[in-house]
Amino acid sequence: SVHGSVFYDGMKFNALVIPSSIEALKTFDVREDDIWINTYSKSGTHWATEIVHLILNNGNPDTIDRTTTQGNIEMIYFEKDSYDEGKTRHLPFYKIIERATSPRIIPTHLPVKYLPPGIDKKKAKVLYVARNPKDVITSLDRFVGNTEMGDFIRWQSALKEFMDGTRNYGSWFDHVKTSWNLRHQENRFFIKYEDMKKSPRDAIESIAKFLERPLSEDTVEKIVKHSSFNEMKKTYNKVEEEGKVELVKAMGTYSYMNKGVIASWKTRFTVSENEEFDRVYKEKMSDTDLQFDFE
Ligand code: A3P
Repeated sequence: SVHGSVFYDGMKFNALVIPSSIEALKTFDVREDDIWINTYSKSGTHWATEIVHLILNNGNPDTIDRTTTQGNIEMIYFEKDSYDEGKTRHLPFYKIIERATSPRIIPTHLPVKYLPPGIDKKKAKVLYVARNPKDVITSLDRFVGNTEMGDFIRWQSALKEFMDGTRNYGSWFDHVKTSWNLRHQENRFFIKYEDMKKSPRDAIESIAKFLERPLSEDTVEKIVKHSSFNEMKKTYNKVEEEGKVELVKAMGTYSYMNKGVIASWKTRFTVSENEEFDRVYKEKMSDTDLQFDFE
């Protein structure tokens, strides 16, 4: 069920998250060639994941193996039983990732403190993507609006929880600031959604450099093309037509591809909500030099 919440270590999560999986990550067997993609939800997880996939596949979307990127490691996985059609097995997604072939691309929304200690021991790479919080919460509202999940995350309460830092996965402010402070570590890279949007080529080249995968001019060109919003939507439609809808739509229903622009928040925030948000933002970001473009 997607209703309700679960708790781990006093932090709230949506009901797709398995507390015992977060616990299991403490001893999760990290490989040195793992590529972790860490985000607060609705910050461009799928976009960054597609870019990394494309970098590993010479810019060809058709050869991508999406086994480890069809969910977040801390979540539940609904596996269709190929021998007994109609039946679905539920299992922790980390168990799928555990037996996947290298190099593994591993998405997670977990705050840094819950990531496996093995990441730093093995110097596995962590790509952190951050997005301006007004668009994050706007994207989230669209995503859950008019859905079952909308029952428990409506706009007003979502906005309040976001500002209070009591939403699922904890405070957005803590989430981004913690990763920002770690950005100089050699196995970590911090990138903003807005920068990816404004200069995709630079973003792709810097991610490839971080991954130590130099790209030919030709391949960069292909990746710029295939990771653009419209082309990625085509790729996702193709994946869906192949019968793998759960890879491209949450719960097989809600597309991860929505508008893909900066400043959607302008159509969602009222003037007073925006003023209140700006006040909270200024206060909570007063101890960091991390800044976002809101348009
Ligand atoms: P919007 O709802 O603002 O359109 P996540 O993958 O973390 O769930 O984030 C989803 C957001 O990323 C959605 O934002 C989605 O449209 C946007 N997105 C997905 N692919 C994108 C792309 N190639 N370029 C720009 N934005 C993209």
